[in-house]
Amino acid sequence: MFTASLLYRNRGAWLGAAAIALLCVLIGTDMAKDSQQRLQAARLLTQGGDPSRAPPIFRRYGCTGCHQIPGIAGADGQVGGALSGLQKRVYIAGVINNTGDNLVHWIVSPQIFSPNSAMPKTGISEAEARDLAAYLYTH
Ligand code: HEC
Repeated sequence: MFTASLLYRNRGAWLGAAAIALLCVLIGTDMAKDSQQRLQAARLLTQGGDPSRAPPIFRRYGCTGCHQIPGIAGADGQVGGALSGLQKRVYIAGVINNTGDNLVHWIVSPQIFSPNSAMPKTGISEAEARDLAAYLYTH
């Protein structure tokens, strides 16, 4: 009886805690759904690019020395702009429309679109560039 009356007296607090717990579950589920949808969209846009393979590729081709890249430790280069919010951009490097194909081809060979660009051709393959593009579209 003691416990029951204690529960009864504190019912406001219990209800509050239950409501907060429910809200956390709902927000958590929503965020998981959101990131799942973003991942699917990035895969489609880049024809199968896999963001999880991207971190060592960014390092291997020196992207990190020239760009700030969200979520990549040590990617603090200042030669080019920060590579964040790519999914919201209208243009890539101010010269081409922001489509998955264009982003992949820019990463492989910027001079195709912008002959005087200071971004060098790094020797990255198209498949690797797809993984990087998928990463950039999910961050
Ligand atoms: C030597 C420095 C350097 C390296 C290495 C480099 N970039 Fe760049 N990058 C630049 C510069 C400078 C620009 C701006 C180019 C322009 O506007 O013509 C740029 C532009 C870009 C853009 C367009 C950004 C925007 O704001 O529209 C993307 C995307 C990009 N780089 C990705 C990469 C990736 C991925 C790698 C690695 C494979 C890489 N870069 C390697 C210097 C570099």
